[in-house]
Amino acid sequence: MAMRPFVLTTLLLGSSLAFAAGCDRSSRDVREWKPTDHEQPLGQQPGQVAARPRGSAQEGPDQSLVELAWQRNCASCHGQRGKGDGPQGPMMRAPDLTRADWQAQVTDDQMADVIRKGRNRMPPFGNLPDQVITGLVGRIRANRSP
Ligand code: HEC
Repeated sequence: MAMRPFVLTTLLLGSSLAFAAGCDRSSRDVREWKPTDHEQPLGQQPGQVAARPRGSAQEGPDQSLVELAWQRNCASCHGQRGKGDGPQGPMMRAPDLTRADWQAQVTDDQMADVIRKGRNRMPPFGNLPDQVITGLVGRIRANRSP
């Protein structure tokens, strides 16, 4: 068994590296698995609360879909809240969509129109479903600055 000391060293080294990489924190957070953990709807972590109860799509667009669409398509320029502070925001001159004065003078239809057709450096997103576009407009409205 000449290999054994080597394997042992590797294992020890490996685990201490993992420890250094932050496992000390997660080991404290480890919970016991419960059968209910298995019944979570797809894409939802145990303990997370759904933005809207499932099966209520007729009341409005699926919020998690809207959130996903924002993160994928809009946040790079408009940022998390729409302030225009995404990584590409300054370069693209993305406007601050949270401004109360702008929000007061623009209609939902006008917003939806820009999202669908684009304008200047704002790319068109006409491929997104209507429900998602409506949801994005709602998300912008919800982030209005006081
Ligand atoms: C590549 C950067 C970029 C991305 C990505 C982007 N935008 Fe824009 N957006 C802009 C720019 C720049 C403008 C200003 C366009 C103009 O009027 O010149 C704008 C304008 C807007 C406006 C209208 C503002 C006004 O003054 O009427 C809305 C609403 C908007 N964006 C929403 C979105 C949404 C929703 C998404 C994602 C689906 C998105 N944008 C993705 C850059 C971007």
